Amino acid sequence: MFWYIVLICTILLVLVYISMKLSPRRAQLKNKHVIVTGGSSGIGKAIAILAAERGANVTIFARNKLRLEEAKTEIKQKLQTGCKVQCISVDLSSNYEDVKKAVSEAEDKLGPVFMVVNSAGTSVSRSFQDLQADDFKKMMEANYYSAVFTTKAAVDSMVQQQQGRLIFLSSQAGQIGLFGFSAYSGSKFALRGMAEALQMEMTPHNIRVTVAFPPDTDTPGFQHELIGKPKETQLISETAGLLKPQDVAMAIIDDSLKGEFISYQGMDGWLLAHVTAGMSPATSLPRVIQQFFLMGLFRVIGLFYLASFDSIVLKCKKEKDSEKVKAS
Ligand SMILES: NC(=O)c1ccc[n+]([C@@H]2O[C@H](COP(=O)([O-])OP(=O)(O)OC[C@H]3O[C@@H](n4cnc5c(N)ncnc54)[C@H](OP(=O)(O)O)[C@@H]3O)[C@@H](O)[C@H]2O)c1
Repeated sequence: MFWYIVLICTILLVLVYISMKLSPRRAQLKNKHVIVTGGSSGIGKAIAILAAERGANVTIFARNKLRLEEAKTEIKQKLQTGCKVQCISVDLSSNYEDVKKAVSEAEDKLGPVFMVVNSAGTSVSRSFQDLQADDFKKMMEANYYSAVFTTKAAVDSMVQQQQGRLIFLSSQAGQIGLFGFSAYSGSKFALRGMAEALQMEMTPHNIRVTVAFPPDTDTPGFQHELIGKPKETQLISETAGLLKPQDVAMAIIDDSLKGEFISYQGMDGWLLAHVTAGMSPATSLPRVIQQFFLMGLFRVIGLFYLASFDSIVLKCKKEKDSEKVKAS
């Protein structure tokens, strides 16, 4: 009995030690400078508002000046005493020099940046055959290069401070490739690869990287994506729900402050995060334990999901074929 208790205590001590090694100390946003790209709309705006509520000084980047000013007014109402918000109009996807200028302008006014939230992005959903060759380039520019350019422009100052948080908004379509998302998924998978490499370089500088994989979220961007979305994609997407940007923002900020590499929402997100964990870094002991026990089971459940998606695609093809026969 004595040795049994000693064994249990030793295992518990080892687990606590591993847990402490994996998880960094939780960060705070009070009086820190947070840059949110795409902060004039949707998830980015919800994150900017949340950062303001938590006492941060906030800079938002986007192109449209009117929407930026409107968002700035909204964020201002949530600012804590003595904190500031500014907006900077910049196209983050075209030219690195413009982005660098915008980041240094932001830092000149509100001090060295602590957190960069790369939320700027866009989506077009069409079948591969219906997409234009240029759509693939546009997705990479808006979703991938905008994040690379902004992070690159901010990272030297973060390394100098030896602290910080970097957040990349991928998508569940950055974990699983679905009908209609070949251009979008390419750009969102790319973000994850870049972020995995970057986190290995940043962790020794006390800078934590988080990749967020939100499901469908009710934003202007999501409403825009619905235009021209193939029926197959709509039916597959309907199997999941529609989240509020405020809930997604809360989960992303909390995961980033805790130092989690992966941020997910909901049951589907939990399953996808674990089944696609691969060689991503371990940032919390509970998640590692869950992956150890659940990955095999989740792979099997994932195969059922895939089978149902494939059957939707096949059903739509049959419908299209019979419509063609009727029309001829
Ligand atoms: N909503 C969803 O269902 C969902 C799900 C998963 C992941 N996501 C990802 O989450 C992020 C936010 O999505 P959302 O739905 O909130 O988008 P949204 O409502 O369309 O907002 C996008 C923001 O990005 C800015 N932006 C776009 N291209 C830009 C550029 N080249 N330079 C500077 N700013 C640019 C937009 O402002 P301007 O147009 O004025 O520049 C706007 O502020 C995106 O990366 C998206 O892919 C969204």
